[in-house]
Amino acid sequence: MKEKDIYILAIESSCDDTSASVIKNRQILSNIVANQEVHAQYGGVVPELASRAHQQNIVPVVLQAIKAANISKEDLNAIAFTKGPGLMGSLLVGASFAKSLSMALNIPLIEINHMQAHILAHFIEEDNMESPPFPFLCLTISGGHTQIVKVNDYFDMEILGQTIDDAVGEAFDKSAKILGLPYPGGPLIDKYAQKGNPDAYKFTKPRVGDMDFSFSGLKTGILYFINKNVEIDPDFISKNLNDICASIQNTIATILIDKMKNAVKHTNIKHIAIAGGVSANSEIRKRLIENQFGWKCYIPEFQYTTDNAAMIGISGYYKYLENSFADNNSLANPRMKF
Ligand code: KG4
Ligand code: ZN
Repeated sequence: MKEKDIYILAIESSCDDTSASVIKNRQILSNIVANQEVHAQYGGVVPELASRAHQQNIVPVVLQAIKAANISKEDLNAIAFTKGPGLMGSLLVGASFAKSLSMALNIPLIEINHMQAHILAHFIEEDNMESPPFPFLCLTISGGHTQIVKVNDYFDMEILGQTIDDAVGEAFDKSAKILGLPYPGGPLIDKYAQKGNPDAYKFTKPRVGDMDFSFSGLKTGILYFINKNVEIDPDFISKNLNDICASIQNTIATILIDKMKNAVKHTNIKHIAIAGGVSANSEIRKRLIENQFGWKCYIPEFQYTTDNAAMIGISGYYKYLENSFADNNSLANPRMKF
């Protein structure tokens, strides 16, 4: 007999994107993301504005996700939501909405860890995506996180290393800000770097544990370097933008690849997955895929690497299979650990 299909509505609201997705088993039927433009003028996410925008977006985004999936809400078997980590005010909007809807529809509620979900996005069923076999290593790189994780099973994960200060996305965005580029500047550094010389300038790489990261020193180094040169030539940035961006990107990519080499050496695991918004970076992708180290690299579709509810949906699916449900006292947890 054919197993019953499982339909889950997933909600993600941990930072500045309001997202809802409907998943049928491992297949994404819809994945709607409302970005919040309001933060660009402040050069970073403003938590209070983020939670207000989630309040405005959540109902239309959920309705759109259900409509685009071509189902009715009575077809749903469960509601999955991001419990943490993230911004408290933002998480609360998604958590309260998910709890209310699960009560109204009388279906189970599933709590999801946002960082695990970034990794489990690799198990979404798509023609052009291959799921990594267990155990594998995942490099999670976003605006909020930088981690190397050993993934033994769907919910058995170990953090091998992480940043002790800024996340890699922040390193890109803060460097871009120093260069006078708008927020978020990561994609712009990538764009200008295409035409630049990656060896034009050298920046000092941080000294931290084998698999840990630190980016705040790099940012300060870039700031001093730029200030010193602009003092000599006020047009230094505009004259050399491509080379500066290529050199910054080269430094960051080298740091990440070196750490992954250490992680492979420590674990002897050669299946490498990548997750988080920074995995869009062309240089980082290129170096991971080049495969000169004998790795096999797994990169999800772009829409599943940035913050999105589809990754919450696939995580919810595996929790549903384990009957791992939350009760209605469930709370958002901004500092949630694995
Ligand atoms: O995962 P994400 O969408 O949001 C969270 O932080 O959770 O990641 C956003 C980060 C931003 O810092 C952005 O600048 C960076 O990803 N980013 C990039 C690129 N595309 C996005 N950084 C470097 N190169 C890119 N192509
Ligand atoms: Zn994220």
